[in-house]
Amino acid sequence: MCTAGTAPMIAPSILSADFANLAAEAAAVARPGETRADWLHVDVMDAHFVPNLTLGLPIVESLLKATDIPLDCHLMIENPERWAPPYAEAGAHNVTFHAEATENPIGVARDIRTAGAKAGLSIKPGTALEPYLEILRDFDTLLIMSVEPGFGGQKFIPEVLEKARAIRKFIDSEDLRLLVEIDGGINADTIEEAAEAGIDCFVAGSAVYGADDPGQAVAALRESAATARAQNQG
Ligand code: DX5
Ligand code: ZN
Repeated sequence: MCTAGTAPMIAPSILSADFANLAAEAAAVARPGETRADWLHVDVMDAHFVPNLTLGLPIVESLLKATDIPLDCHLMIENPERWAPPYAEAGAHNVTFHAEATENPIGVARDIRTAGAKAGLSIKPGTALEPYLEILRDFDTLLIMSVEPGFGGQKFIPEVLEKARAIRKFIDSEDLRLLVEIDGGINADTIEEAAEAGIDCFVAGSAVYGADDPGQAVAALRESAATARAQNQG
């Protein structure tokens, strides 16, 4: 297994943060050092693609002014053709949309990249990876959902790790530049098996923002992932 030798990345999901205090919640994981998050994960839900409604572009624009942590926008929305590029134009680092939400994932990825962000493709737990393997060159990130999208605090679905192992092999054999991210149910009990399966970036909502010290939770999760990865490689 090859994970490029970089430290595991942790992306706290603000879905589990206090929406009335987002600047402070971002700052809690932005102190320099091991407690700093790599990305801040922003779950955009439209009450159509998923049965929940969260936040949209105006709040992302405000967050971009409030924090220097790169924003990882996870769009759980219909019609990403129309709605994804503005997040890139606003300054999001990474804009991820769902494979299930569009007939034209390559076109959406190109528009996101043209607008200046990294492009991410997300697949639900029940969506197979194989049909998308050949288009992954057009993406910077693959986000594997390990719960049904829509809500924080759900139980991790370990079967999705098969997809993580398969994509890691594919990346190595095809020499792809693709970052593999996992989202849903990641906590102290599940992060090790995800790290062993070759995940690069771990989204964690309740495990970070449900902790007394979110920064310490980031550091502890990263350490657990790094240890599991090192043991797996050694
Ligand atoms: C769920 C969201 C996740 C969510 C994860 O649809 O995409 O990002 O915040 O929350 P936890 O880590 O609590 O499962
Ligand atoms: Zn998410």
